[in-house]
Amino acid sequence: MCGIVAYIGSRQAKSILIEGLKRLEYRGYDSAGIALINDKLQCAKSAGRVRVLEDLIDQQDNLHGTLGIAHTRWATHGEPSDRNAHPHTDDIKQGHGIALIHNGIIENYVSLKKYLLERGHEFNSETDTEVLTHLIGELYDGDLEAAVQAALREVTGAYAIAVICEKEPDTLVVARKGSPLMVGVGKDEYIVASDSSAIVAHTTQAFTLDDYTVAKLTRNSFRTTTVDNVPITPQIRELEFGLEQIELGAFEHYMLKEISEQPNALRMCLKGRIDSREGQVVLGGIADYARELVRARRIVFLGQGTALHAAMVGEYLMEELARISTEVEFASEFRYRNPIVEEGTVVIAISQSGETADTLAALHEAKQRGALSLGAVNVVGSTIARETDTGVYLRVGPEIGVASTKAFLGHVAVCTLIALFIGRRRNLSRDYVSQLLAQLEALPDQIEIAVALSEEIREVTKKYIDRENWLFLGRGHNYPVALEGALKLKEISYIHAEGMPAAEMKHGPIALIDDGMPAVFVATQNSQYDKVLSNISEVKSRGGHVIAVATEGDTHIADLCDDVFYVPDVAEPLQPMLTVVPLQLLAYHAAVLRGKDVDKPRNLAKSVTVE
Ligand code: AGP
Ligand code: GLU
Repeated sequence: MCGIVAYIGSRQAKSILIEGLKRLEYRGYDSAGIALINDKLQCAKSAGRVRVLEDLIDQQDNLHGTLGIAHTRWATHGEPSDRNAHPHTDDIKQGHGIALIHNGIIENYVSLKKYLLERGHEFNSETDTEVLTHLIGELYDGDLEAAVQAALREVTGAYAIAVICEKEPDTLVVARKGSPLMVGVGKDEYIVASDSSAIVAHTTQAFTLDDYTVAKLTRNSFRTTTVDNVPITPQIRELEFGLEQIELGAFEHYMLKEISEQPNALRMCLKGRIDSREGQVVLGGIADYARELVRARRIVFLGQGTALHAAMVGEYLMEELARISTEVEFASEFRYRNPIVEEGTVVIAISQSGETADTLAALHEAKQRGALSLGAVNVVGSTIARETDTGVYLRVGPEIGVASTKAFLGHVAVCTLIALFIGRRRNLSRDYVSQLLAQLEALPDQIEIAVALSEEIREVTKKYIDRENWLFLGRGHNYPVALEGALKLKEISYIHAEGMPAAEMKHGPIALIDDGMPAVFVATQNSQYDKVLSNISEVKSRGGHVIAVATEGDTHIADLCDDVFYVPDVAEPLQPMLTVVPLQLLAYHAAVLRGKDVDKPRNLAKSVTVE
């Protein structure tokens, strides 16, 4: 939802902080700011991207210091503007020189603001964050750590914060509840950030703060406590990836890099987890729960956005392969619905970031009602990964592009593995699992072929670039792929697109079809192929233009459609991991051709850590 980075050590902080913001900008980017202490507190902040802030501070020569904080914002309270940008400071009349940056929402900020206004505080912004800063200033009595602890005991909501005070030039205080925060442990220095992408350039040793944890950092030591000042010991671990994995390399955008990485991402995801000769899936993380999983009476997937679409593929796979009743829930709906979670229910929280607030809240709801919880998460050590009973990491590498691509592939691959893990212990034969696993192991090579369609897809996309309304249609396992294709196009090119089951079109949406309207069909050869052909004809007969993802060698479909992207023939349960690739590329090229910011689409953030 936003990017936080803070530094305390012996090096000049400004360049470290700005570089860190650039690595975190994918998390939120409507405004940015920095504060440093060099005897006095100095702040600079502005609406717009980090580069606007960089230009601003290049004109100021007072921003020095080896202690600082910086923030790139995704506004929740108060429009994106200079005055609402972080850092925020405490009331100038109190003169403590406190500056704070925040990711999250202070839910009781209105009542706190009323209290502070009655005590004479004057505010400069509309944000909830400024209220927290003033509360710390109000409670400050010469001990910043104690003031932060006391203030956090008064707030409700979610926060990841970093706080500095010009009266304590050797202290950086950070804290977290509900929003991610990680502390990189360097040599006589600490780099604090929302995620490891801003830390890995400086150190590979880090610890994640748990909820209600406060850390006081000096230049060569740290202390972690609860908000009630009870000491706790964090677990320092090795970061799971290096700098080269988050560099853009020769690619123009992270999204294209991550689409192109999918073959290797799938290989990493599958590595060590498949024994195709024995027809076995090896998932150490859930092995201890095999008995509960095999006996599960219902599986409930929880997720949002792309993760939800992957879960919908997972629903087909679980019912087809594991033969367990399965459903998919928008996490945001599940959590408020007073859901029925009976004995034998297993919930699977699907999330790339492992920090999505709605998914985390729904997970808590399900756990409180007695469900066994699994995480299918990409970010190691993320909140959902730590709060589920067990789980399977995607292992597709860091995903920086706001539009999720290789994480969809990873989610579907993990769902396939879990379904086969359970199915093999229930009703699936060794031969069937062995044969499907062999095809799964070969799938990365076939995804290479789909990735190589990029230039062809770009040329086709050019023909339709002025169309403002698209339909995406598919059946069976490919129906969620149609939803995913529509989401990709919407979120990065701002073209309106709607995905649906191909059969559903006749129940209303077909009224939208007019001359030249693009309809994208996932029409690979499978059990419902003939029905999809009929749906294609229904669109063509009303003047629509049909773009199809089809199986190599299918010349018949070329007679029906305006454009066809051919992918290799694979087993029906594995098709979504392949058929999604042309749709990802279509969305990517549409956004580039329309001059949009592919990696930082307007209004979006990579991880929605607020409700
Ligand atoms: C997808 O391209 C979007 N970035 C968004 O829908 C995303 O999938 C959703 O917010 C869930 O994020 P998560 O996987 O990190 O939980
Ligand atoms: N709620 C704070 C604001 O609107 C923080 C938003 C964020 O997480 O970026 O400024």
